[in-house]
Amino acid sequence: MNIIKGNLIFAEKFGELTILEHHYLAYDEHGIEGIYQTLPSAFSNCKIEDYQDALIIPSFSDMHLHAPQYPMLGMGMDLPLLDWLNTYTFPTESHFKDVALARKIYADLASNLVKNGTTRVAMFSSLHVDATLVLMEELERAGITGYVGKVNMDRNGGEDLQETTEESISETKRWIEASKRFAHIKPILTPRFTPSCTNELMQALGDMVKQYDLPIQSHLSENQGEIAWVKELHPDCQEYWETYDKYGLWNNRTLMAHCVHSSDRELSAIKDAGVYVVHCPSSNEDLLSGYAPIRHMMDMGVRVVLGSDIAGGDHLSMFDNLTAAIRASKARQVMYGKDRFLTVEEAFYLATSAPASFFDEKPGFAKGNSFHAIVIDDSKVLSVRPLSLKERFERAMYRRQEGAILAVYSENRKIYG
Ligand code: GUN
Ligand code: FE
Repeated sequence: MNIIKGNLIFAEKFGELTILEHHYLAYDEHGIEGIYQTLPSAFSNCKIEDYQDALIIPSFSDMHLHAPQYPMLGMGMDLPLLDWLNTYTFPTESHFKDVALARKIYADLASNLVKNGTTRVAMFSSLHVDATLVLMEELERAGITGYVGKVNMDRNGGEDLQETTEESISETKRWIEASKRFAHIKPILTPRFTPSCTNELMQALGDMVKQYDLPIQSHLSENQGEIAWVKELHPDCQEYWETYDKYGLWNNRTLMAHCVHSSDRELSAIKDAGVYVVHCPSSNEDLLSGYAPIRHMMDMGVRVVLGSDIAGGDHLSMFDNLTAAIRASKARQVMYGKDRFLTVEEAFYLATSAPASFFDEKPGFAKGNSFHAIVIDDSKVLSVRPLSLKERFERAMYRRQEGAILAVYSENRKIYG
């Protein structure tokens, strides 16, 4: 058994924090065994990593980001979605036919995720299978866990970023087979979005969901121009979500990024199917998409998780993205006078605990969960009086504390520090 000691802070429920001062957490290769105020004598001979007065929180899940967009982070931010895709994004992703380039960029991305305390991902690669396998390898090497998708796109990608329908299907199957060698990174089916995939390809992907028992990720109702385009492409569908549902790509293992402009009818369909909304507040501001009604979604019982959506979003760190979610919710409250803003505890829940069910786990440091954590040493940040643990927690979320991340644990292993 391994023992780690410090101030444990986690969210078991939306809006609630559990704060355990100077407690012990026991874990082994099977996961978290328990949390104790005094160490049971059975563990007295175990090695203890004593982080003293540091904060120990669950590490972050980034449930929507684009690995091949990492080299364009912070560029092209003044264009709305469809222009941004054609001008910056598709040309950037087309470079990932070069496997050596992919290796260099993906190794850097993986190491920066770890340093920022993100240990679980649902990530888009590009359409290139060999580079996607390199991405999975580099994430696995860095100790990251979760899902990666080879992107499917057989229309509207331009000359350099498009597959034929047949290629897309056969390459996806080759990739699924080759992915079997990874222990911690699993495949997720990834139709880019409805305008990128013919009906025939969507149908084939729906068949693969059943054949291989795989989860699904895509984009939904991000931008008004996109929604109008989908309506033209599928005149038989009343709303965008039906274009996924029609082909068997809509269930309780589906992640749909954005949903900024989803109607109540679309949100009810999301709720009823158990689809997850991945809220990407930085991206929604950067690409002029809008402010998603997260409070309203939570009130409806929709499952909401968070994503950086790099490089539509301009921040890799989930500390930044969770505070961006708070600011976006405050903008909505100020603009519309309804939908009360998200608190820091609530945004923290969305970034750490809400995604647990997607990984078949429980919120927080629950017994039986695999151990994923960040150790934060905030002792170098000055204050005029002694602070409560709650105050230190809030400050750690908002403030970019240089060098504060002392250690990162992922799937019962220490991967940093
Ligand atoms: N919709 C289709 N592709 C993309 C993408 O790469 N980023 C975002 N934000 N939206 C998309
Ligand atoms: Fe995206």
